[in-house]
Amino acid sequence: MSLKSFLSSTTPMMMRVASKPLPAALLLSLGINVLKIIYKDYISPRSLIGKVVVITGAGSGIGKEMSIKFAKAGCTIVLLDLSLPAVEAVKSIIESEGGKAHAYVCDVTSSTTVYSVAASIKKEVGEVWGLVNNAGIVSGKSIFEVPDGLASKTLAVNTESHFWTVKAFVPGMIEKNDGCIVTVASAAGLVGVAGLGDYCASKWGARGFNDSLRLEFRKMRKYGVKTLLVCPYFINTGMFDGVNTSRWPFGLILPMLQPSYVGDMIVKAVRRGQSELRMPRLMYASDLLHFALPVWLKDLAFEIIGFSSSMDSFTQTRDTSK
Ligand SMILES: NC(=O)c1ccc[n+]([C@@H]2O[C@H](COP(=O)([O-])OP(=O)(O)OC[C@H]3O[C@@H](n4cnc5c(N)ncnc54)[C@H](O)[C@@H]3O)[C@@H](O)[C@H]2O)c1
Repeated sequence: MSLKSFLSSTTPMMMRVASKPLPAALLLSLGINVLKIIYKDYISPRSLIGKVVVITGAGSGIGKEMSIKFAKAGCTIVLLDLSLPAVEAVKSIIESEGGKAHAYVCDVTSSTTVYSVAASIKKEVGEVWGLVNNAGIVSGKSIFEVPDGLASKTLAVNTESHFWTVKAFVPGMIEKNDGCIVTVASAAGLVGVAGLGDYCASKWGARGFNDSLRLEFRKMRKYGVKTLLVCPYFINTGMFDGVNTSRWPFGLILPMLQPSYVGDMIVKAVRRGQSELRMPRLMYASDLLHFALPVWLKDLAFEIIGFSSSMDSFTQTRDTSK
């Protein structure tokens, strides 16, 4: 079929669609997104070879998984955590697989510690291209039971620390107009959950921080510095041991995520220059719930699905006193 006959046969249909603005806009947006996915997945995913990536909370859980997977993608990994043996162990795994890693002890809640560790990294490793704000804690206590200090600490680790790490590592990215900041928030940053008040507040905060950061880059016209917001549902790392993710049969469509899958998806999203990643995909529907349902109906739905009682069986496996 010639271009001329193709255009003359499709133009009346396109005109009909265009005369209905909403379907036309939806169709156009769907088409653009499909083309974007094809281009970024198969034609031009970004190469990460030789990039220096700093990962906080890299000693366990998804921090460890991401470190190993970013190293496999060719990055030099800078592992930060509270415990030296933990980051040294991850460094050994990466090196045994032929990758490059450096391990540092760093309490991300202390701005002075973050700035001095960042200065050492710049001298010993070089300019940082990527920052993954992943370190996190959970108290697992209700708003009325959580000790004051622990509520503050949750906000300090999960949200406030992002100010220190971004100020320490991102100016070099802005200068080069090239880099990436990954914010590991949570599905608890999309909705509220009974028994997770401090954690939800910290993850909603991290989400707001990520959005503001992205808009600041846009205002500076630094389109080469990307941000990625990650909102996963419960992951099988031990951080949320014992939780009842959801009642039968909802657990069938909302099972716990596996750390290896989450690590893979994050590396893939960074390579694609994606700005948001929710796992499982069903989490994208939370915006629709907020928009479409009255609050009482949304709360009732959460009760029926089992979210409201998911923390009742939680057991703390992490030492939150450190
Ligand atoms: N596990 C889940 O179900 C789940 C779900 C959604 C989001 N997340 C988020 O993913 C991230 C990683 O969680 P995980 O499941 O791997 O947990 P994890 O407990 O296995 O790992 C967290 C790491 O952060 C480190 N850390 C804690 N406080 C720190 C501090 N002050 N300075 C530096 N490092 C510190 C810990 O030592 C630990 O190695 C967290 O931000 C968490 O909130 C987890």
